[in-house]
Amino acid sequence: MTYTMNNIKILIICALSFAHVVFAQEIIPIETSKNALVLSIGKNQDVSTIYFGQKLGLKAEYAKINSTYKQSNDYTGQLNSVYTPSGSRNLVEPAISVTHADGNKSLDLVYVSHQVEKIDANVSLTTIVLKDPAYNFSVKLFYKSFYKEDLIEQWTEISHSEKGDVMLDKFASANLHLKAQSYYLRQYHGDWAKEMQPEDSKITHGIKTLDSKLGTRANLFQPSVFMVSLNTPATENQGSVLYGAMEWSGNFRVDFELDYQDNLRIIAGMNNYASPYKLKPNEKFITPKFLYTFSDQGKGEASRKLQSWARNYQLLDGKGDRLTLLNNWEATYFDFNEQKLAGLLKDTKALGVDMFLLDDGWFANKYPRNDDHAGLGDWQENKQKLPNGISSLVKVAQKNEVKFGIWIEPEMVNPKSELYEKHQDWIVKQSKRSEYYFRNQLVLDLSNPKVQDFVYGVVDDLFTKNPDLAYIKWDCNAVIYNAYSSHLKDQSAFYIEYVQGLYKVLEKIRAKYPKVPMMLCSGGGGRVDYAALKYFTEFWPSDNTDPMERIFMQWEYSYFYPSIASSNHVTDWGKQPLKFRTDVAMMGKLGFDIVVSKLPENDLKFCQDAIKNYSEVKKTIWQGEQYRLANPTEGSVASMLYVNQDRSSAVSFNYLVNNRYDEGSKFPIRMQGLDGAKIYKLTEINLYPGSSSSIDSSVTYSGDFLMKIGFNPDVKAGRTSVVIKIEELR
Ligand code: DGJ
Repeated sequence: MTYTMNNIKILIICALSFAHVVFAQEIIPIETSKNALVLSIGKNQDVSTIYFGQKLGLKAEYAKINSTYKQSNDYTGQLNSVYTPSGSRNLVEPAISVTHADGNKSLDLVYVSHQVEKIDANVSLTTIVLKDPAYNFSVKLFYKSFYKEDLIEQWTEISHSEKGDVMLDKFASANLHLKAQSYYLRQYHGDWAKEMQPEDSKITHGIKTLDSKLGTRANLFQPSVFMVSLNTPATENQGSVLYGAMEWSGNFRVDFELDYQDNLRIIAGMNNYASPYKLKPNEKFITPKFLYTFSDQGKGEASRKLQSWARNYQLLDGKGDRLTLLNNWEATYFDFNEQKLAGLLKDTKALGVDMFLLDDGWFANKYPRNDDHAGLGDWQENKQKLPNGISSLVKVAQKNEVKFGIWIEPEMVNPKSELYEKHQDWIVKQSKRSEYYFRNQLVLDLSNPKVQDFVYGVVDDLFTKNPDLAYIKWDCNAVIYNAYSSHLKDQSAFYIEYVQGLYKVLEKIRAKYPKVPMMLCSGGGGRVDYAALKYFTEFWPSDNTDPMERIFMQWEYSYFYPSIASSNHVTDWGKQPLKFRTDVAMMGKLGFDIVVSKLPENDLKFCQDAIKNYSEVKKTIWQGEQYRLANPTEGSVASMLYVNQDRSSAVSFNYLVNNRYDEGSKFPIRMQGLDGAKIYKLTEINLYPGSSSSIDSSVTYSGDFLMKIGFNPDVKAGRTSVVIKIEELR
């Protein structure tokens, strides 16, 4: 019998309907390689979460789990609802609350149907349809599960056919329910140059909320990524831990409610702050995705799963190549001209990187972009600085056999600009209030299709005029003040429509330019999230490039994002030597932002050699499994290891993070992820010219030894940064 793709799909659905018979139509297990999220349909058709954790050998036993708990009474029958409605029986934080067309504020949601679609060998989509018995109001819950990566993306579609508009007052993407003796939250906070500062706490009864109300640059003070450990704080290799993240580049809200039964309810979605959404009859409101993964083997495994999912499914060109580069931001700031840039293009070649990236300051004429007070919005080359335009710079780059990339910040406008003079109605501001600026600029109203066309046009014009342009750095330096769109009739849709407008633009750009690498920058890491990374090949973690700071920051980012996505530049920030700065920047996508022509001979030679070394180990850093071996917050040494897929090579980065007397790597550092049976040769790379290694590379070690006893990189004063290449001896 031959089947078409569709027949196969149908067959799988039928097989699963048979499975419902086996489970008496009560249990919906969503299983991945190691985990299970188990939902059940109760007698009164309520759909609840009965389990989330390690999967069981016998599916039938999931139904027994609940009876093993002797917790206090659930007066609502809804405490573990898969999507808690409000205004009827519920007594806790809802996932959804609405005002019906008739003004009634109550909602109940009961089971209608569900189906499981196998998208391919690794990915399944479970859809559950719920309906309010009293109103024509429905919610579809989607669970997209990635078997190998143990990851679930969850989102919701809300619709109704009432006799008027329904107001959605809260509209989460997901509503999880966890059972443990205690729960420990790792969250992050920050500001400019201080991104990803971790903070740990035990979750207490009541509600803890992580949220953003900034509109754009939404993660500036707090990103949506978090970890929750169950029973005891997870370590790198031990403990049960859930990682969560919103795939949304705007206002988000994640509520953690420890309820009176001692269970943890996690409700994640867009922020409903100032955003009640008017839903017309028969329209669909689709929430962004909330993603989560779970490991009972600690943070390390959870992050490797997440990184691997990102490379396989989400990050643009996650399996592809990346360009090393020389950026001129810190080397010149706004002070450059054609001649200076010609010199920098030569330096790019001399350094040995793939590309030159021209940063801010190249545009605007009536109000030239000579500092950050003017010019944003006027994307024409500044005639004084660049009389022959970008195209001539691209040609000079080609002559130097390097590629050319460019910075833009197309969502923004300076009050001192022609765009501001022409298009007041395109700007987010309130006419009755005085303008309030963030970095001297305002945000353009991306909910307006005309503005979407303008922003798309900025990118499209650049590529049309310069087809050989190889890279875009897309910046976003302002948050939204005085939120108001003169385009929208309904202001409460503004924050949501802004982000949807941004995605429309990015979608259009990617339809025409599917693979051109683009860096997601937001005055640092103010915007990185997995919805944006569908369109971007990399992100800028922070303007803080002090390598000592970066060791800590990149460490925290690495729990959630693969190193291939992390743009790390060698700059003059910090007190560490060039070698230290370069080694740290290598743990990701390497770039430079230094004055190459002023480098002493040995420094230049060091960089050139390091770039060559990087090209040999970069595949392992980008695509390998990452192991955090020594945590800089716990001791004097930081150690990070990347191991390639067949465990034949690895590279380890080691740093002294405490310069007190006699500090160093006193103990061997145990490696992980190697093949115990293989014999490895360890060679120190990135040696500064004239220095020699204290590591004897003629001694070989078994993987077994390296993982049980470990290896001492001999980090100490005078050897504060040590990179070791580990290769299988064949
Ligand atoms: C903020 C970015 O984070 C920097 O790297 C640089 O591009 C400046 N903006 C330019 O204005």
